[in-house]
Amino acid sequence: MIFTVAIDGPAAAGKGTISKAVAAHFDFAHLDTGLLYRAVGAKVNDGMDAVHAAETLDPSDLNRDDLRTSDAAQAASKVAVNPDVRAALVDFQRNFATREGGAVLDGRDIGTVICPDADVKLFVTASAACRADRRYKELAGKGQDVTLEGVLVDVIARDKRDSERAEAPMIVANDATLIDTSDMSIEQAVAAAINAVDRIR
Ligand code: C5P
Repeated sequence: MIFTVAIDGPAAAGKGTISKAVAAHFDFAHLDTGLLYRAVGAKVNDGMDAVHAAETLDPSDLNRDDLRTSDAAQAASKVAVNPDVRAALVDFQRNFATREGGAVLDGRDIGTVICPDADVKLFVTASAACRADRRYKELAGKGQDVTLEGVLVDVIARDKRDSERAEAPMIVANDATLIDTSDMSIEQAVAAAINAVDRIR
């Protein structure tokens, strides 16, 4: 059985949590595609050329433990504007999406570019203030040296770069179901996503 769930949306809207929960609920595989761009950004920070980093990316690169920082997020969104970087990562994502047993992919362009024929498309969003607050708590909780103001500035800068780029900008696919998690608990957001998948499955 091939069944693809595409989950797009801005940083810290709850995509990751929702994607993991949906994948676990339906026993589908999950790919956080942001990690691909973070891993390429990290290699560029190490001095590698961005396109070469994307072309030679190995799944083991996704396990680096420095990918969950604000620096890695900014580096990711900078390499993500490069069409050649994006092109080099397409096959890996499409192969994952069409694997046997079902797949959930989360990112910015899954429902629009990577998997335009996905069985279910969700766009998960929340207000910038709400997202910054969540990301701040997450990073501060891990002991990272961040401020709420700094995280808000980063979130807004990343939203702008992601939605205004020429190649595969972050936009809501016509046929996506919108889930605004600003006033939802994690449980409510997960239930809304599982319902949307259940309606099609
Ligand atoms: O989702 P995450 O915050 O880890 O993504 C990091 C960055 O990678 C995003 O800000 C975006 O620029 C880029 N990205 C992308 N397309 C995707 C996933 C992530 O451009 N499908």
